[in-house]
Amino acid sequence: MQTNHIEALKNPIFDIISKAAQELSVDAYVIGGFVRDYLLQRGTPKDIDIVAIGSGIELAKKVAKNLPGSSEVSVFKNFGTAMVRYHEIEIEFVGARKESYHRDSRKPVVENGSLDDDQKRRDFTINALAISLNKNDYGTLLDPFDGLSDLSKQIIRTPLEPGITYSDDPLRMMRAIRFATQLNFIIHPSSLQAIADNKDRIKIISNERIVDELNKILSSPKPSVGFSLLHTTGLLSYIMPELVALEGIEEIEGQSHKDNFWHTLEVVDNIAENTDNLWLRWAALLHDIGKAPTKRFDKKVGWTFHGHEFLGAKMVYKLFKRLRLPLNDKMKFVQKMVLMSSRPIVLSQKYITDSAVRRLVFDAGDHVEDLMTLCEADITTKNPKRQKKYKNNFLIVRQKIEEVEERDHVRNFQPPVSGEEIMSTFNLKPSKEIGIIKDAIKEAILEGDIPNEYEAAHLFMLQKGKELGLSSK
Ligand code: CTP
Repeated sequence: MQTNHIEALKNPIFDIISKAAQELSVDAYVIGGFVRDYLLQRGTPKDIDIVAIGSGIELAKKVAKNLPGSSEVSVFKNFGTAMVRYHEIEIEFVGARKESYHRDSRKPVVENGSLDDDQKRRDFTINALAISLNKNDYGTLLDPFDGLSDLSKQIIRTPLEPGITYSDDPLRMMRAIRFATQLNFIIHPSSLQAIADNKDRIKIISNERIVDELNKILSSPKPSVGFSLLHTTGLLSYIMPELVALEGIEEIEGQSHKDNFWHTLEVVDNIAENTDNLWLRWAALLHDIGKAPTKRFDKKVGWTFHGHEFLGAKMVYKLFKRLRLPLNDKMKFVQKMVLMSSRPIVLSQKYITDSAVRRLVFDAGDHVEDLMTLCEADITTKNPKRQKKYKNNFLIVRQKIEEVEERDHVRNFQPPVSGEEIMSTFNLKPSKEIGIIKDAIKEAILEGDIPNEYEAAHLFMLQKGKELGLSSK
């Protein structure tokens, strides 16, 4: 049954494209994500994909010329595509093609084709839906693979035999899992099997593209959907073996530890409810990464993971480097979160002193709230009593942080007495004594022995100098 969706084409750009296509006597269709998201009512789409039965590049040029004020065209000759920017939207033009891929790369061998040929070579039935921009059937939905029905049944299915679609472009395995996570859809069983069968082909995909998909999975409402699919299909072992190494429960002498892989996925889902900060979500994913290599059994205390935070922070760098994630302040933030991930938990389990909270704020600086969000997400106990107790303890920690902050201002700590002042007071040249005094002042403030104020710090400095046998002016 053919249905008309003229209301999808409200944006005046479609009329401009339609007229340009007529002038060139080529047929044109809007296809892919725009149509899918319109049918799912997923808000205003960012990008528009246009397929022309002829040259996409020529059509793009014509459209750009006809746009009020005319516009630039970016041509990607190797791919036979062109892009025109219209307000905030990127419009991609491509000629319909019959396409096959070289087995060892994603570079397609291109041959002109019909709309049907083009739809067949797309990744999923829900992404192969097209709406006509042609005068005779403007607004008609063209759906040869029952994409509409898959949309309503919430199924990710390939137009062709799944082995062919995935083997043609292995990135699609990641895309299937990403769409399942973003849209909360099910991957068709035969498709899921084909992903497992073709998993090693992920090796030909660049890390940048893999990370794009990982970031989209992590940004979804329930990232565990994606990570558990990546795991069950075997893809995760290629992408992040460090995470897979966390799976499993060992028992010795009746003592076991939790499964840190599945625990991690719960933590990521928990944090997704409280933050959209992608890097904080990465921190949640990697917060226990050091636990596999540090796991030991001790007859007296049972299972231990000593120093896992420290090793974990080092592993963050290696993993970011390997996956070509940014090695900038974002990576440093993730490292810091992993390194400090156990600090508030320790605080919440015992009587909380002001000085311990001051040290936490001092070390975490501006990231103390993020750290608290991570630690709260880390509570995955199924015991309601304990759950309540931990949450309550964290509330107390948060309150204390506020109190201590208001009073002591140790976040982004600036020493109340400068190094220069210490030097001039004791008539010192640059020397280790200056560091000793500065450090002693900082410690005294963090311990709560003196307030974070100039007068008190100055007096303390004089006393400390005396102890060191220094004479003041
Ligand atoms: N496509 C494909 N195989 C790929 C990538 C893309 O068949 N590996 C096709 C799909 O028809 C897809 C369209 O190209 O709908 C546009 O791709 P892209 O812009 O990457 O994705 P969208 O589907 O638009 O979704 P999103 O913007 O959420 O990534």
